[in-house]
Formats: sequence, C-alpha cells, structure tokens
Amino acid sequence: MIQPASDAFVFFGATGDLAFKQIFPALQAMILRGHLDMPIIGIGRSDLSKEQFVSRAHDSIEQHGKLDAGAFGKLSAQLQYLSGDYQDDATYRNLKALLGNASHPLHYLAIPPEMFENVIKGLSRSGCTKNSRVIVEKPFGRDLASAQALNQALLQAFAVADIYRIDHYLAKEPVQNLLYFRFANSFLEPIWNRSHIASVQITMAESFGVQGRGSFYESVGAIRDVVQNHLLQVVALLAMNSPLDHHPDAIRDAKLRVFQAMQPISPEQAVRGQFRGYRAEPGVAPDSMVETFAALRLDIDNERWAGVPFYIRAGKQLPLTATEVMVTLKAPPQPVFDSAASGQANYFRIRIGPDALISMGARVKLPGEAMAGEPVELLAQRHPGDEMTPYERLFGDAILGDPALFARYDSIEAAWRIVTPLLGDTTLLEMYEAQSWGPAAANSLIAAAGGWHNPESTKDSHGSNG
Ligand code: BG6
Repeated sequence: MIQPASDAFVFFGATGDLAFKQIFPALQAMILRGHLDMPIIGIGRSDLSKEQFVSRAHDSIEQHGKLDAGAFGKLSAQLQYLSGDYQDDATYRNLKALLGNASHPLHYLAIPPEMFENVIKGLSRSGCTKNSRVIVEKPFGRDLASAQALNQALLQAFAVADIYRIDHYLAKEPVQNLLYFRFANSFLEPIWNRSHIASVQITMAESFGVQGRGSFYESVGAIRDVVQNHLLQVVALLAMNSPLDHHPDAIRDAKLRVFQAMQPISPEQAVRGQFRGYRAEPGVAPDSMVETFAALRLDIDNERWAGVPFYIRAGKQLPLTATEVMVTLKAPPQPVFDSAASGQANYFRIRIGPDALISMGARVKLPGEAMAGEPVELLAQRHPGDEMTPYERLFGDAILGDPALFARYDSIEAAWRIVTPLLGDTTLLEMYEAQSWGPAAANSLIAAAGGWHNPESTKDSHGSNG
C-alpha cells in the first residue's frame, strides 16, 4: 500500500545539541534537493523569538554544514518555533493550532530518553498523533524494561507502521555498503565463516570528549550510547546469513537471528573506562561512574561463527576519530614462507568513518633473491564519506513512509538483552588518560587474537596493531 507522505515536520528538542549539529544542516540540505516543501515546527523549552530561532539555525548550518543563501531563505520562511514545557498540555494545544491543515505530520523526538513518554502522551491527548508518524531518537530506552515500556507507550499512540526508531548508523553509506559488499560478491561467502576467519574487531574511536553533552552522557555512557545500537547493528551486518531478498523485513529478520544467537555478554568479557577529566565536564557528577570507554568480547553461537571472537571497542578522548572493522583471516595452515609474518596477513579492513574504505590485506614477495615478503592492501573502494548525511536520508525516508533504514523493535529488545549484564557497575571502571587508547585491561581482553588494530587518521595509512 502506498503511504501518504508527511505534510509537516515537527521536531522536539529544537534548541538542543542534536538539532544544532545535525538537524538544521539536514533540513537545509533537504530543501536544496527539493525534498522538504512543508511547514517545519521546532519545539523547545527555551523562550526564543522566531528571529532568534532562525539565527540559531543559521549558526548551526554555518558551523556544521554549508550555508546556501537560497535554501536557507526558504528554510527560514518555513520554520516556526514553539516554546513550551513538555509536561504542559498547552504546548500540544498550541502545536495543534500551528499544524493547521496538515493532516499527516511527522513528529521527531530529538530529546533525552527520559522525556519520550511525556511527549508521546501529550501528543496523543491533543489529537496530534492522528494519521501521523513519529521518529524516536536513540537510545531506545535505558535497558530492556524501559525499552518495553517506551514501546508500549508508542503503540498506544501510533500505529506500528508509523513508528520509526532511528539509528543513524544504519543510514551511513559505508554501513549500507557492508551489506552490499557481503552479498553482492561470490568470493566472500565461502570464506566468511569459522573455517577461515580468526576474529573480527570493530573500533569506534573519537578524539573528542562529551562536547557539552555531559548531562545527557551521564544518563547513558558508552554502552548505551553506541554499543547497544550502532556497533551491534554493524556486528549484525557482518555476521548475518544472507537475507531471503533485499526487502527491509528480510534483512531485519536475518539481523535478528544474529542477536538471538548471542549470549548476554559476561562482565568478565568486558572492560569499562573513563577518561581523566570527564568528571570536571559541565553536567557530570564529580564522582561519576559512567563509562566513556568500553571494550568487550562477543560470541555468536551458530554454525557460521562458533568459536570466532567478535570484539568491540568504543571510546571518547582516544587518539583520533575513526570507526573501523577488521576481519582477520586464519594464517595459512602450512606456512611455506616467512611463517612469523603470515599470522594476521590476510584480512578485510572496512572503514566506516569519517571516510569510507574497503580493503583486503595480503602478502607479496619483495623483489630479490630471498623468498621474503611484505604486506600490501588491495583497495576495493574508497570514497570521502557520506554524500547525504544519515539524518537527511532518514528524515526523507520517514516522510515517505519507508522504514528500511530504521531499527525494528524486536532487534532493539534483543540488543538490550545482550548488553544487560554490563549495565550499571557490574564491570570495574578503570581510568585512562585522555588521548590514549583506553585502559590497559582492554589490551588483555584481545591479546589472544593478536591485539587491537588501531585505525590511523590518514586515508593512505594501513593502521597498526596496538
Ligand atoms: C551518536 C552518539 O549516536 O553517535 C555520539 O550519541 C557519537 O556520542 C555519535 O559521537 C557518532 O556518530 P558519527 O556519525 O559522528 O560517527
């Protein structure tokens, strides 16, 4: 059935950090492509005039996008600002009045998770949910129980098909390419399993701290912020069996099977860290036990992956910003030449950000009399990054009613089950120096697999093991 397109874009959290860094630039980009010809209503708790709001949008796009005078002019004309308390029914009555003739609004909740339910109920009481869609920011809940409660609250206000759970990683071009690369090439499938793959690791390194988002970060920490969602979704794409076809539910079913084959992570298989200086950030408790770094090992108990460790490492204030996957193949069973170097010589390296790359590691002989070699990388693809930002793409999809790049509820629930044993203080928190690769214990976790592969910052580099 063809879904009607949304005819108004409403976003809560309009004066927040996410709006400043991502939403305004995405809205201008959509207008530039002719994809957003509808009223745009921002709602926030600050008392701003329309001029102040437009000027905030201007600063946001200048700092986090590329200002286009024509498109910005149109955006300013379409933008409206509504200030209000999310607990007060008057806010939603005012929204209803502003929506005027719009009959299929899209509401985007770009607000901290603890406020979701208030807003959903307010929208529902005021009749703003009728024929409307909703996008809910991540993390979807704080744990399994709160995710279930949030889902129930959503289902009371919206039809299942109208709920869009955002995970912007799913809309990243290199993440999409991971799915494509795996299933569009016949040479991969025969080796993409326990017989040929020794280990898989993913590092999501960020060289910055919490950038003024201290109070938000205090309520999440690295495991809720990026492991339960972004990084487990990447694991699912790396590990899934081939979907029946390319339809969204076939792909989601295949990913869900991966989560179902994982045991909850045991605290002994995880390391939590906090960078020195985090506790002095605005909004952070002086005795905070929230992790800004997490490293863990996962096992997937199915025929393809039994015995192959999957490692995940994510952290703030690491030496650089890069997200990279390293799939290490087993060493040749009978090394004929320079056997010491043959371990870890064959691999796939998939860079997800900030630039994108897929390469294969191999060894070739060095010219000369000796049968000695050197590592080389065969480049399959390199491109500078996303042409369309993930947010632009996801807003466009939600407006058109296309759920393919949004997370399905069952996989969110399954992902919470996997990380549940790590939530809270079950794993010791170790301090690490800012601009280092995290606590030393993270290295012990992966020692048996040859250590972490540390991504490098230049596009020409090969990375190194740390
Ligand atoms: C967000 C997290 O979901 O993803 C942030 O809340 C993180 O803490 C960000 O910095 C990283 O996204 P990207 O697209 O910049 O890699």
